[in-house]
Amino acid sequence: MRFEAKTGHATEQKTACLILPVYASGPLPASTRRVDTATDGLIAGLLEDGDISGKVGDALLIKAPPTLRADRIMLIGCGERDKFDRKQYRKAVRVAFGSLRQTRLKTAVSYLNGEAIAGADMYRRARIAVEVWHHGAYRYTTTKSTDEQPPIAQTSIGLTATTATGTAIRKGIKHGDATARGVALSRELGNLPANICTPGHLVAEARRIARGNSKLRVQVLDEADMKKIGMGSLLSVTAGTAEPAKLIVLHYDGAAKSRQPVALVGKGITFDSGGISLKPGPAMDEMKFDMCGAATVLGVFHAIATLKPALNLVGIIPTCENLPSGTATKPGDVVTAMSGKTIEVLNTDAEGRLILADALTYVQKFKPELIIDIATLTGACLVALGRHRSGLLSNSDGLSNALLKAGDAADDPVWRLPLDDEYKELLKSNFADLQNIGGRDAGTITAGAFLAEFVGDSEWAHLDIAGTAWLTGSRKGSTGRPVPLLCEFLLNRH
Ligand code: BES
Ligand code: MN
Ligand code: ZN
Repeated sequence: MRFEAKTGHATEQKTACLILPVYASGPLPASTRRVDTATDGLIAGLLEDGDISGKVGDALLIKAPPTLRADRIMLIGCGERDKFDRKQYRKAVRVAFGSLRQTRLKTAVSYLNGEAIAGADMYRRARIAVEVWHHGAYRYTTTKSTDEQPPIAQTSIGLTATTATGTAIRKGIKHGDATARGVALSRELGNLPANICTPGHLVAEARRIARGNSKLRVQVLDEADMKKIGMGSLLSVTAGTAEPAKLIVLHYDGAAKSRQPVALVGKGITFDSGGISLKPGPAMDEMKFDMCGAATVLGVFHAIATLKPALNLVGIIPTCENLPSGTATKPGDVVTAMSGKTIEVLNTDAEGRLILADALTYVQKFKPELIIDIATLTGACLVALGRHRSGLLSNSDGLSNALLKAGDAADDPVWRLPLDDEYKELLKSNFADLQNIGGRDAGTITAGAFLAEFVGDSEWAHLDIAGTAWLTGSRKGSTGRPVPLLCEFLLNRH
């Protein structure tokens, strides 16, 4: 599917489908009015007769009369004109593209992005349109023997543009396309079952992303390598498994060597049974999504590799399974992390922080300008923030504010939780330097406080995506979040 900036009036477009906005009240939008005039008041008539109401989410597809060069007209409700903001626009576009996919029509030109939209400039409107398209077009089929969905018929969609707006729109299309492909990669990896998406599979994916791209390099540490550098915390999580653990290191070199890299660290537990502290049965299958932090890092690298911005990026993915067995780590075991700190593993289900501890220590050797880790870390984050905003914990106000802003701009929002020193008290152990759980209170914060023990003096932020990385119920599946937030953040920086 190709998007393009299309100049010209709606009456002049030769396309299978003209997508035109209508509001719930007031005069017709300029693009729609022009078509209305050319068709003897066809659209005003449809609104008058109640064939379409103009409410957001309304859609009406009709054959275009011969006075137009287009074959069909799709009217899309946009609600009240003065309330048409980014969210309503997103919804209108989603409905338009969803209907378009059902039509099997090959081409379309949309005038929805020609409207004034609160909180979205030309660039943003184009970027949203492309991302919404790809989000709706994604289908998980890999492990299904029959594909109940017919393949997507559309080959190209035009977004209305003028000579003045063309550049911004083309940039939005480019960024939207790369981000969306990163999101799709992340979703696919998240959705794959844990018997396919193993640590080895993530290694293969990292290598595949880097193949043929001179700015990308991949290094992989195996268990022997990790043992040599003292990653006792990470290795304690994989102790009960047959599948070998890996530490994947990705480098994107888009700027001078002297520029410090941004570091992304993603939790890659390909299945989290809880280990000896076994999780209850219901919904345990969803713990295949416990590698969505890793999938985010791979998705962001995929997008960045396409856009080639002038920055340096390091990605670290500690990845293994968390399973019980005779060789598994037991509650009460004390392990030594790469940093030298000893950890009493009071609950083997608090494993994400154990693999991240060593990954956060390791990443410091690349002298990053800042570190962002991404992890499906705590069920408590779901309790605190639900499925709308990801949790953000950080030792830096500047980095926090940049991430909050990027999240809002990308409609992939986060919310900051505090990290006062007082929370560290909850991690005190009688038998080690610290313990890996802090009790019932403030579970997301104590997890963050644990990670903070391993970041040294680095500027660091932690994103807890336990509530946002996947949906449950009938729409069960990975969301690809927070790839949009991180692409936004990185593209703002160069
Ligand atoms: N991967 C889970 C967190 C999780 C649970 C994410 C449910 C999404 C839904 C993590 O490894 C975990 O098990 N955390 C424990 C920590 C606890 C033992 C301190 C949790 O949240 O229960
Ligand atoms: Mn766990
Ligand atoms: Zn986990």
